[in-house]
Amino acid sequence: MDVIPVSLAGRSYNVTIERGCVLENFADHAKPYFASYRTSEKSDGRKIPFVADTNTHRIFQESIEQSLLAEGLAADWFVVEPGEAAKSWSVLEKLTDWLLALGITRSDHVFALGGGVVGDLTGFACAVLKRGCEFVQIPTSLLAQVDSSVGGKTAINTRAGKNLIGAFHQPASVLIDPLVLDSLPDREMRAGYAEVIKYGLLGDAEFFDWLEEYGTAVLAREPEALTHAIATSIRAKARIVAEDERETTGVRALLNLGHTFGHALEAETGFSVRLLHGEAVATGMVLAAQYSARRGELPKVDADRAAKAISDAGLPADIAKLGMDCSGSNLADHMRHDKKMEGGTLPFLLLKQIGEAYLARDVELADIAAFLDEQMAAQ
Ligand SMILES: NC(=O)c1ccc[n+]([C@@H]2O[C@H](COP(=O)([O-])OP(=O)(O)OC[C@H]3O[C@@H](n4cnc5c(N)ncnc54)[C@H](O)[C@@H]3O)[C@@H](O)[C@H]2O)c1
Repeated sequence: MDVIPVSLAGRSYNVTIERGCVLENFADHAKPYFASYRTSEKSDGRKIPFVADTNTHRIFQESIEQSLLAEGLAADWFVVEPGEAAKSWSVLEKLTDWLLALGITRSDHVFALGGGVVGDLTGFACAVLKRGCEFVQIPTSLLAQVDSSVGGKTAINTRAGKNLIGAFHQPASVLIDPLVLDSLPDREMRAGYAEVIKYGLLGDAEFFDWLEEYGTAVLAREPEALTHAIATSIRAKARIVAEDERETTGVRALLNLGHTFGHALEAETGFSVRLLHGEAVATGMVLAAQYSARRGELPKVDADRAAKAISDAGLPADIAKLGMDCSGSNLADHMRHDKKMEGGTLPFLLLKQIGEAYLARDVELADIAAFLDEQMAAQ
């Protein structure tokens, strides 16, 4: 078992990584968070609230309920359709109404069982419910296990864009069972792996070297490699979040490597399954590396290594092959609406070397547009 602390003033919590901690012995690990649902040693009949999507509900309901039953406890489920549409005002309203009808108090814990969509939605509902109740993250996608479940960013989407309404609200605990990834579709696994590569590129050259060698084993869900990749990613995220919880000093911004390019690609493809978030980030990281090389800040050989690691993982490394029917300035226009845009400039995450990202504040969007035109024309 690996227990990684996320150290924050007054709101520290642990991320537990253990094979089987959800699928085999959930109640043992989650026991501390059941306390408010009991009145005595045995349950008082108050059910424990779980939020899931139809996939995670179908796959994990039985093992969770059996584990709870052995403790004399039961679950109540709020189940959403899979996909970004669940991060909406209307679903948030239904979820908060449901939680209020259950009589959830500020010290009760709500369990989020799913990928980043379920985690972000549940976290935001818990941030605003009675001005803040507790929640536990049980991430079931690789992306959620290595990224979204840790750090306290919660949000829903609006017509104006993704994640524009949200709050910082840290979970009480994060329980990561690598075994749950066995049922994750391969494409989702690869999309999550893009965020794993990100930690190597932005701050850990040794981890990047390791991924070049063992990335295939991680994607094949080989236990030792997978657990090492998740734990190393979480350690990096925990360190960064502890340093800059609310993204005010520029440290947490490092986690956005590849995201500005990626976000523009997602916006251009309508945030659809045509390009998953992790896939867009993968292409975005290659673009960030190529743009850094174009500025003479990153050796070309390192930009090529980044692109190779991404294409070896079966992720889209080449924007020219995405079939984007747009110009560089169309993509740069999407960046203008980025919520990190300040006073007409957009801070850009670039690379000095593999394992060293930095925030450039002198990037002109017109130059980005020209660079993107070059890349889309290159074959
Ligand atoms: N809060 C943050 O810091 C943060 C960081 C990164 C991304 N995000 C958000 O995360 C979301 C993306 O998360 P995601 O990639 O996990 O997407 P997701 O939650 O939509 O899950 C992807 C798909 O995998 C399915 N799934 C999940 N676990 C499964 C399992 N074990 N077996 C079978 N199917 C499973 C889901 O049902 C869904 O169809 C986006 O909304 C993004 O904005 C948040």
